[in-house]
Amino acid sequence: MTLIDRYAVFGHPIKHSKSPRIHRLFAEQTGQTLEYTAQDIAAEQFQSAVTTFFAEGGKGLNCTVPLKELAWNCADHKTERAQLSKAVNTLALQADGSLLGDNTDGIGLVTDLTINHGIALSGSRILILGAGGASRGIIAPILEQTPHSLVIANRTVDKAVKLAAEFDNGGSITGCGFEALKNRQFDLILNATSASLSGCMPPLPTGLLAKEGVCYDLTYGNEPTAFVRWGQENLAAKSLDGLGMLVEQAAEAFFIWRGIRPKTRPVIELLNAELKAKG
Ligand code: ATR
Repeated sequence: MTLIDRYAVFGHPIKHSKSPRIHRLFAEQTGQTLEYTAQDIAAEQFQSAVTTFFAEGGKGLNCTVPLKELAWNCADHKTERAQLSKAVNTLALQADGSLLGDNTDGIGLVTDLTINHGIALSGSRILILGAGGASRGIIAPILEQTPHSLVIANRTVDKAVKLAAEFDNGGSITGCGFEALKNRQFDLILNATSASLSGCMPPLPTGLLAKEGVCYDLTYGNEPTAFVRWGQENLAAKSLDGLGMLVEQAAEAFFIWRGIRPKTRPVIELLNAELKAKG
């Protein structure tokens, strides 16, 4: 009897995760036979749940909030991008039984921005709001795109300054508080705070977004998020949510596990249509 290859996403909460749907759509599209489930795992149970999952024949795991840092700890080896972000969202069982940890969030964001939306990052003035795990995961892939400058602004100023210093590559990345954004302008503003989830906005000065500038919220919802609405009100050329990033990071994980790159556009279009129907 051949056992079906098993994959899962672990998180807490996980009920509303779109990952099972996305991976099943990828599997259907590429003719792969696999199972992908969502499991609600609290941080305290994480290590034993991972051990059990792979002992019972699991092939790969996605880990989401609040488990990405724990997943980083439990990977036997890590890719360079996972090392830089100190977080793992994808675990892949290797032929020798070890676990490879990767982080596909940053590449997912960059692919969505540059390929799906045609937004050039090279030479751009980029602002990231927030200095938590979500910010950390996207900094290195953004710097690889050689922006003109990258500013990290955070409510707790010290965290932004420290995070920027970790990635310092010769002066193009700096950290500050929201106050220090007065009289500055950016071509791209990325919201990586968790404020949007509760419908809040960081206090941003007027005139922050350059003409033809773009806003991108790393989160998404049935309704436009508070930050997406802020972008619209501030006349962004595009004000986007993170659904495309979610699908792109999943495609990269699928590629790591299965060696096949699924087409993302039809999946993004389908999920967007479903969200609009609900909203
Ligand atoms: P994640 O891993 O999702 O980034 P996190 O590490 O808890 O989660 O970080 C959340 C980020 O959102 C932080 O930058 C936090 O700012 P502080 O470091 O000052 O706590 C930011 N954040 C959360 N709520 C916010 C709010 N209402 N206004 C501004 N920033 C907020």
